[in-house]
Amino acid sequence: MLKIGSVNLDLPFMQASLSGYSDRPMRVLARRFGAPMTFTGVFLDKNAVHLKAAKKLLFAPEGEELPVAGQILGANPATMAAAAAAFEQLGYAFIDLNFACPAPKVLRRGRGGSLLQKPETAIEIFRRVRDKVRCPVTMKLRTGFDSSDASREDFWQLCTLAAEEGVDALFVHGRTVKQKYRGKANWQTVAEVKRRFPDTTVIGSGDLLDAQTAADQITSAAIDGVIIARGAIGNPWIFSELKALLTGEPKPPQPSITEQGEVMLDHFEMIAQTREMIKAVRYFRKFAVNYCRRHPQRKKAQTALMKARNSTEVVTAIKQFYNLA
Ligand SMILES: Cc1cc2nc3c(=O)[nH]c(=O)nc-3n(C[C@H](O)[C@H](O)[C@H](O)COP(=O)(O)O)c2cc1C
Repeated sequence: MLKIGSVNLDLPFMQASLSGYSDRPMRVLARRFGAPMTFTGVFLDKNAVHLKAAKKLLFAPEGEELPVAGQILGANPATMAAAAAAFEQLGYAFIDLNFACPAPKVLRRGRGGSLLQKPETAIEIFRRVRDKVRCPVTMKLRTGFDSSDASREDFWQLCTLAAEEGVDALFVHGRTVKQKYRGKANWQTVAEVKRRFPDTTVIGSGDLLDAQTAADQITSAAIDGVIIARGAIGNPWIFSELKALLTGEPKPPQPSITEQGEVMLDHFEMIAQTREMIKAVRYFRKFAVNYCRRHPQRKKAQTALMKARNSTEVVTAIKQFYNLA
């Protein structure tokens, strides 16, 4: 149902790239709840150039979480190609080139979203990467650097060149770089990309915070698929709901309070396996805030989890608030 070069997914959605969130625990949960595939957060090319360095930096994807797409960031075609090769060797199913990141320090170095203003350089990066790897190569774009006519022209030029070069998919976040995360995502432009390039796989992103909205956008924008980003943080149920909506199955019931607690415990345990205890406790907080949104005593549950100072306190708070013995 969703074709990204040689990668075929039976459902038209994925868990998006989310730096600081989409590491293995979040990816495993997304897969358990029905996402056919997930993304890493973005990695700077020069940190991943050597296989040894890349292995240290990230975990090679494995087991339950497979398949995983790797995303890289950089401005130098040769370094990006070397990083892509290392990622492919680590077992990533395809390589996504980040031409979207709006972080000021990324833009200052001519990386990420600033490459939307340099379509020729972006395409040169794509060509070098594609020539270096056998797996599919895709691009993550925003709808332009800013809302000026010049930016829009650059955006369409990049899409045109990418389609001509046979990019395996365009992931389009419906905001400009300048917008960062402000305002509403512009789905007209996402839909227009598919209309203009019907033979290219086009996957949309932006404000898909619940399953119904995601399902509706696939239909109304007539695109190949979507990626779920903020809507999946502390909410892996979004994937089972979306799967049910798209396959015509009945909507799964809301997760019970104990099921929510069990998922939180699993999530925390996976985080604790890969981080020092205090770092795991702090890291889990940003997921816990969102998990707590479903809790009938949201504020109290959240406060207890934010106050927890070690793993025993985290586990105790979850058990207490989620009725787990
Ligand atoms: C905390 C955070 C981290 C993100 N990290 C990345 C990233 O590393 N690479 C990327 O391509 N997009 C990244 N994004 C953008 C998302 O993948 C997505 O395109 C964007 O959030 C719009 O989707 P949403 O409105 O449904 O969240 C990030 C977004 C957020 C909120």
